[in-house]
Amino acid sequence: MWTDFPLFPEQASTFAKDVDYLYFFLVAVSLFFSVLIFTTVFYFAIRYRRRSADEIPQPIHGSLALELAWSGLPLVISMTMFGWGAVLFFRMHTPPARAMRVDVVGKQWMWKIQHPNGKREINQLHVPLGQPVKLNMISEDVIHSFFIPAFRVKQDVLPGRYSTLWFEATRTGSYHLFCTEYCGTKHSGMIGSVVVLEPAEFEQWLTGTPVGETMEQAGERLFVLHNCITCHNPSSGARGPLLDGLFATKIRMASGETVTMDEVYIRESILNPQAKVVAGYRPVMPTYQGQISEESILQLIAYIKSLTRQPPAQQQAQQGQR
Ligand code: CUA
Repeated sequence: MWTDFPLFPEQASTFAKDVDYLYFFLVAVSLFFSVLIFTTVFYFAIRYRRRSADEIPQPIHGSLALELAWSGLPLVISMTMFGWGAVLFFRMHTPPARAMRVDVVGKQWMWKIQHPNGKREINQLHVPLGQPVKLNMISEDVIHSFFIPAFRVKQDVLPGRYSTLWFEATRTGSYHLFCTEYCGTKHSGMIGSVVVLEPAEFEQWLTGTPVGETMEQAGERLFVLHNCITCHNPSSGARGPLLDGLFATKIRMASGETVTMDEVYIRESILNPQAKVVAGYRPVMPTYQGQISEESILQLIAYIKSLTRQPPAQQQAQQGQR
């Protein structure tokens, strides 16, 4: 509908139309009241101008109907904006469970992207048509912001904290990807494209060229490389808790509090291990701050997550091997 209107980017996601409708509503309300106020100002200025030097105007002591109208109408209009916006906001912040996950790391000045099967790309994001995609994003340095105008989605990408963004593309093609948070001298060059492919084409793209290792495999390699396995191992003399099967479960801490073992907790425990020590263990783990990249942490998380998916028997066997 708006593709011929160059002021607007294409509508290429399930959110695009709804965001535009809300936006047009806001513009229409603003226009209506701007015109109403300015014409009234000019009309009154002429109609009620002072006609002689000694003219004394009639005092006005209020009008209940008028006051109710100018309180009630703005209330209804602003509440409509609020309700409409809130409904859309919650939809845009609630990724469906079947959403495909992609990890994004922002750094000065590029977007580094990794798919679960290990496929990486820089400043490009390939996604399938008609499939919800959830981006799990973090920054390696300063605040960036991930913006795809054609999808009408934008989310800040912060250092030290995961943020998410989801969308479902509704047409194939290549769309602009921008960083919309001033992040240093080459901020304006931190751009790329989102390529929407037919599902079959996407599958081919994803698996066409062999990728070295999946994120889980990379995580497993790092788990050994960084010596995590030395302590998180059944024969370590309980220096560190076994991680198998723990993801998404609640764990009691030495402090008495209960923490859900999620991505945030794993990341914190790698970078700041003393922050929340599991009950029954001593705070002996060294920090990996400055020694491990955000991408590696995401791979470790993928690996630790995968440990929950194994059936107990196989898990036991694997633990025995370590
Ligand atoms: Cu990254 Cu601007």
